[in-house]
Amino acid sequence: MKTIKILDKEFCISITEAQINEAVQALANKINADHKGCDEPPLFLAVLNGAFMFAANLIKRIDFPCEISFVKLASYHGERSSGKVTELIGISDALVGRNIIVIEDIVDTGNTYESLMATLQRHHPKSVKIATLLLKPEVYKKQQHLNYVAMEIPNEFIVGYGLDYNGLGRNLPDIYTVMKN
Ligand code: IMP
Ligand code: MG
Repeated sequence: MKTIKILDKEFCISITEAQINEAVQALANKINADHKGCDEPPLFLAVLNGAFMFAANLIKRIDFPCEISFVKLASYHGERSSGKVTELIGISDALVGRNIIVIEDIVDTGNTYESLMATLQRHHPKSVKIATLLLKPEVYKKQQHLNYVAMEIPNEFIVGYGLDYNGLGRNLPDIYTVMKN
């Protein structure tokens, strides 16, 4: 089995590029079917950095008129409140009244998507859906419905296909799972 070492950790291949492509095509088919004949082009919003590879793969399989834009999330703790404040970097398009489809690499606890959702709502979109490449269902306990999930994976740390370990591994065309020592 193909293994790689990144920093202190060993990983072994768990989802091949071919399997990813198959899952992305199946997901695109679902999204295409749901948007057949829709006359308002939705805006896909890909969340950087992790979703860049998935976004490029997914968007070329979408067969209806649409727009794509990229955002980055910055979280910080407000001075007065202890609550987490999420800032969206890169929103240049007006989101008011738009149908938005968020493109994410992975939903784990769902904390990221929850705060992204709250931030997006402040821009008054018409609707917000999510398309995620991966979901760890054992970890996700939020009420928020996840509209489009390409693949479900166990609760193990992975890298590759956009996902990183300390900034490394995003370039790998396959997905690798950390090996237990
Ligand atoms: P959540 O907020 O717990 O849902 O986590 C989502 C974010 O955590 C993702 O966008 C990833 O950046 C990161 N993440 C979660 N699980 C993994 C993993 O297994 N490998 C790499 N990054 C991960
Ligand atoms: Mg991410």
